[in-house]
Amino acid sequence: MRRWIRRPVDAVITSPPYNNAVDYYRRHQLEMYWLGLTTSHTERLALLPDYIGRPRIPQGHRLLADYQIADPYARQWERRIAKSSTQRATDFRHYHAAMTRVFRQLAFILRAGSPAVFVVGHSRWNGARIPTTALFAELAAPYFELAELYWYPVKNRYMSYSRHNGASIDREYVLAFRRSDNGA
Ligand SMILES: C[S@@+](CC[C@H](N)C(=O)[O-])C[C@H]1O[C@@H](n2cnc3c(N)ncnc32)[C@H](O)[C@@H]1O
Repeated sequence: MRRWIRRPVDAVITSPPYNNAVDYYRRHQLEMYWLGLTTSHTERLALLPDYIGRPRIPQGHRLLADYQIADPYARQWERRIAKSSTQRATDFRHYHAAMTRVFRQLAFILRAGSPAVFVVGHSRWNGARIPTTALFAELAAPYFELAELYWYPVKNRYMSYSRHNGASIDREYVLAFRRSDNGA
């Protein structure tokens, strides 16, 4: 992000990928061709490793090299998930690594006090809701403080995750972060 956006911006509003809930790579196939963002299957496939929130991340993925989750709450979740599925724990670690990078990059382009607004859902693991809000607040903490939190019910929207796992995302949360004034 630092490479492309060279001046500070006033605010960021984004809706990051869910963790293992939607297969964006498959879902966006039509749009990618239609908008001319890719022109061949090979081009599309080359983007696949960069997708955030995917399932079945290979152990050798570049984001995972030497990456250990240091944040205590996220570590608890990683261990809990690993008890039932090593693969799913790897996917979680990848998601954590990617989102940590997202916040670090945003910190470069936002001045102290500027808002970064994230719309997120809480996906589920074995029937339990993964508390994405708390996990994001923790991983963003070196650069951002969570200033406000809202939620709204998700209505009339269908997600493939609910069909496969019987666990629908029925709320979305709006996290209003502010860039801290800590020089980090
Ligand atoms: C929750 S959706 C938000 C969709 C958006 N609000 C819209 O209306 O198009 C998350 C989006 O992030 C995209 N995404 C996944 N990995 C990404 C990455 N590494 N860089 C940028 N976008 C990514 C997904 O393809 C998906 O479109």
